[in-house]
Amino acid sequence: MKFSSIQSEAYTIKSDCLVVTIFEGKEFSETATAIDQATDGLISRLIERGDISGKSGQSLLIPEVSGINAERVLLIGAGKKDKLTDLQFKSLHEKAIARLKDLTLNQVTFSTLELPISNNPSADKLSLAMQAIDASYYRVDGLKSKPKEQHVPAEFNFIGQVSEADLDHANALLAGIHLTKDLANAPGNVCTPSYFAKTAQDLAQDYTRITTQIIDEEEGYELGFNSFLAVGQGSEEPSKFIIMHYQGADDKDEAPIGFVGKGISFDSGGVSIKPGEGMEGMKYDMCGAASVFGVMKAAAEMNFKKNIVGIVVAAENMPDGKALKPGDILTSYSGQTIEVINTDAEGRLALCDGLSYIEKFKPQAVIDIATLTGACVVALGEHNTGLMSNDDDFAQTLLKAGKEAADKAWQLPLDEEYQAQIDSPFADMANVGGKAAGTITAACFLSRFTKNYTWAHLDIAGSAGGVFDKKKGATARPVPLLMRYLSTLS
Ligand code: BES
Ligand code: MN
Ligand code: ZN
Repeated sequence: MKFSSIQSEAYTIKSDCLVVTIFEGKEFSETATAIDQATDGLISRLIERGDISGKSGQSLLIPEVSGINAERVLLIGAGKKDKLTDLQFKSLHEKAIARLKDLTLNQVTFSTLELPISNNPSADKLSLAMQAIDASYYRVDGLKSKPKEQHVPAEFNFIGQVSEADLDHANALLAGIHLTKDLANAPGNVCTPSYFAKTAQDLAQDYTRITTQIIDEEEGYELGFNSFLAVGQGSEEPSKFIIMHYQGADDKDEAPIGFVGKGISFDSGGVSIKPGEGMEGMKYDMCGAASVFGVMKAAAEMNFKKNIVGIVVAAENMPDGKALKPGDILTSYSGQTIEVINTDAEGRLALCDGLSYIEKFKPQAVIDIATLTGACVVALGEHNTGLMSNDDDFAQTLLKAGKEAADKAWQLPLDEEYQAQIDSPFADMANVGGKAAGTITAACFLSRFTKNYTWAHLDIAGSAGGVFDKKKGATARPVPLLMRYLSTLS
C-alpha cells in the first residue's frame, strides 16, 4: 500500500476509483462541483432522485462515468459542511474502503484533503486519512490456518498539495502504529517478555540510532528491581527490563524525553486471581509497552531530531508456589517499601522501578503509558485516555497534542488529598487505595517515584482497545498523541 499525492483537475485524473464527498444540504465540495460540471450534472441528478443526500455514513458507487477520466466514482456522505469532526473525517475513509473492499482495484484517489474539519483546524488531514485507510486493511486473523484473502489496492492518491516530508512523516507514524498493533494483538504465549526483548534488539539492528540494553532477572535483582521482579516471580516466563535509547539530537548528551511502558504480557491477577470471564483480554495488558516500541520505531523512521529513552517493564503476572502474595512487603529500587494488598495491582509495582531507574538518564520529561486500572475504563470508556501529571503545563501540552492528533486524553486530578488512601501501617505505601478513585490512587502511587522530574501518566486501559470490540483489536493509542507531542518539540 503506497500513498502519494496528485495535483490536477479532478475530472482529468485517471483512477480506478475517485472518492468524492457529498455534503448534506445543497452544498457541494470543491471536487463534487468539478465532477458535477464535467458529467453534465450527474451528481445533482443523483441527489435530486434521492439516491444520496450527503448524510454522514452514506455511500453510492457509480460504476461507470462518462466525461471524466476516472473509471468509477464513489460518493461518500460527509454530513453538514461546517460540522465535520476529525473522527468523522477518519471514519468516512473507513466507510469508503468498506465499500470498495470487494472490488479488485489497483488504485484509488481520494479528494478528501479539501474537507474542512470543524473541531480540529490544525489536524494533519493527510495523516488522519492514511491512518484510517491503513486501519481498514489491518488484520487480526494472521494466526488462522486459512486467513481470508483480501485485495489491497497498491496505490492511494490524495488530490492536493502534499509535500514529500508530510508523506514521510505520516508513513513513519503508520510504521510505529503497525508495530504497536502487531505486538499488542499477539497472544500471551507469543508476545512474552522475551519476545519484547527480541523486538528491542531487532529495532537496534534495523536502526543505527537505536541502541538497547536488556536487564535479565539476575542482574535486575542485583540492581534492586525488587518491586518489578516480584510481579513475574510466579511465572515461568523470565521478566525483562528493557532499555532503548534513540539518539536523534546531534548532542548525545542532550536531555532525552523518557517513556516507560507497562508490559504485562498476560495479567491473570496472580494470587488475587481475576474472574475467568474475559480474562483472555488481559493479553492486552502490554499495550503501554507496545506503544513505547511504536514511538521508538516512528521516531527512527521520521529521523526525529531529539533524544528519547524508552523503558519497558515486561513480566507475566501468574499465580504459582513462588508467586507474590497479599501481605508481602517489597523494597522497591527507590528504597521505598510497598505492602502488597492485591497482586492484581501489579502494573504499578512494575512501573515504579522503571520510573525510578529512568531518572539516571536525566530526562527533560517522562511519560508512562499503562493499561493500569479497570476504574479508568469505568470513568472514561474507550474514547479518552486518562491523563494525570505532576506538572499542569505539561498536562496541557499533552492534552493539546492529543486533541490535534484526534487521539484524545482527559485529565484527572492528582490532588494531594488522595495520597492518604494508599497509606499502609506496615510499609511506606500500599499497592491499592480502595474502591474510590482507583485511577487516581494508582497515579498517586506512581507519583511517589517521579518527584524529581516532569512527569505524566497515561492510563490507556480503555483507549488501547481490546475491551470493547474484540474484533477490532488494539488501537495503537496513544502513539498518535505521543508522536504529535514529540513533533512540537522540534
Ligand atoms: N490490567 C489491569 C487493569 C485493566 C482492567 C486493564 C481492565 C484493562 C481492562 C490491572 O492490572 C488491574 O488488574 N487493576 C486492578 C487494580 C485493583 C486491584 C486495585 C483493577 O483495575 O481491578
Ligand atoms: Mn492486574
Ligand atoms: Zn494489569
